[in-house]
Amino acid sequence: MKINNEKNSDLNISNHQKPNGFKDHFAFLFVKMLRFFADTFFAKRYGHRAIVLETVAAVPGMVGGMLQHLKSLRRITDDNGWIKTLLDEAENERMHLMAFIEIAKPSKLERLLILIVQGVFFNLFFLLYLISPKTAHRMVGYFEEEAVISYTNYLAEIDAGNHANVAAPEMAIKYWNLSKDATIREMIIAIRGDEMNHRDVNHSFANSIK
Ligand SMILES: [Fe+2]
Ligand SMILES: [Fe+2]
Repeated sequence: MKINNEKNSDLNISNHQKPNGFKDHFAFLFVKMLRFFADTFFAKRYGHRAIVLETVAAVPGMVGGMLQHLKSLRRITDDNGWIKTLLDEAENERMHLMAFIEIAKPSKLERLLILIVQGVFFNLFFLLYLISPKTAHRMVGYFEEEAVISYTNYLAEIDAGNHANVAAPEMAIKYWNLSKDATIREMIIAIRGDEMNHRDVNHSFANSIK
């Protein structure tokens, strides 16, 4: 799905959903734990960090979309647009990955990490979504809060001159409708806008489940 940046411009960078109850706290603490590992492993290697984490970020939408699809079939009820929203999210996250792979190339160790993390995370998230879709959407909401923070830090590093502000890849210019001479700074702003959108959508899905 192409996400309209103008629509994203009225999203708030610092939106935070306060954890309320056990499920929210569980989701929040789990995400904070993963953030700690990501910070330790990647430190300020934002390009590599983005690649590995986007391979994870593109999983929940597909799992949630599939499980909502199956639920709609089982119960013979309408999904209120959830399936398409979630599958679009998965596609959008995969495009983030396609954009970053043109900027940084994962090492052999990172490729192994991607393989292992996908095997573990897909299965865990699938089980979590079966048991508690509310917790699963809340967790994605918190992942996305962290993604917004990470991309804001990435932008600050570029502005400080610590990361080269190279030309945006051709596919990114097309996908986000950027100007022909756009740099990765504009691309990251567009991607961060997408993450804000995922954050708000997933928190609102979590809020709507009793
Ligand atoms: Fe993403
Ligand atoms: Fe995201």
